Amino acid sequence: MRLKGRLLSVAEMVPPSKCIVDVGTDHGRLPVWLVKRGIAERAIVTDISAASLKKAEALIKAHGLESLIEPRVGDGLSVVYPGEADTVVISGMGGLLIRDILKNAPQVTDSVKTFVLQPMRNQGLLRKWLVNSGYAIVDESLVREKDKFYEVMVAQHGKQHITRDVYYDIGYMLIQKKDPLLKEFIEYKMAKTAAIIEQLESKGTPYSKKGIDGLKRKLEDYREVYQWVTRCDRL
Ligand SMILES: C[S@@+](CC[C@H](N)C(=O)[O-])C[C@H]1O[C@@H](n2cnc3c(N)ncnc32)[C@H](O)[C@@H]1O
Repeated sequence: MRLKGRLLSVAEMVPPSKCIVDVGTDHGRLPVWLVKRGIAERAIVTDISAASLKKAEALIKAHGLESLIEPRVGDGLSVVYPGEADTVVISGMGGLLIRDILKNAPQVTDSVKTFVLQPMRNQGLLRKWLVNSGYAIVDESLVREKDKFYEVMVAQHGKQHITRDVYYDIGYMLIQKKDPLLKEFIEYKMAKTAAIIEQLESKGTPYSKKGIDGLKRKLEDYREVYQWVTRCDRL
């Protein structure tokens, strides 16, 4: 079985683990890939939807991995016991849902070493919550599929000092490790923000004025990071 694009990027961020939990596994492709390659010795796969989990069960069976991958129906980490897993993967969900899943299971998260997270939206809010809640984002990567960028984050328990809010929107680790897609990613964010500003300006309501000012500040910050990244590229 081959993975590509977003899911491959998530898989490549998973460290060698005794047991991973893949929360919201759906098709189950990620844990099957990880266990088949020996990156995870075992896996627990969960999904709030029994119908989704059935897809994972079928794939696990097709690969003969029933003794190594255990499916469980349930909400978030509520079906996992503390100490069962050293790595948690949560991918393909909104950032706020990922935050809530982590927040609602402190006994489980306390015993986990590494969290591989791939939020589909609200990435900045998730980063901010992680950093303000005793996590450090130790690695990040970007992947592009067609016109869309996906952000993959690796977090561990620890302290991280983020000096500017813009580093929640453009992950600090992406800048530090000079992710190959970083410039395109910032260009995409600048274009999207400029388009929203233009759209709001055409409405001209007082409410939009407040929104526009915030967005203009954001755009300036993106431009500043972009210039810095471009300058570093030339050195
Ligand atoms: C878009 S799929 C992502 C599947 C896979 N993780 C991936 O990245 O391709 C989201 C899955 O999360 C499940 N899900 C949504 N909320 C959940 C929750 N609170 N706990 C567990 N699973 C959840 C959905 O049923 C669905 O199967």
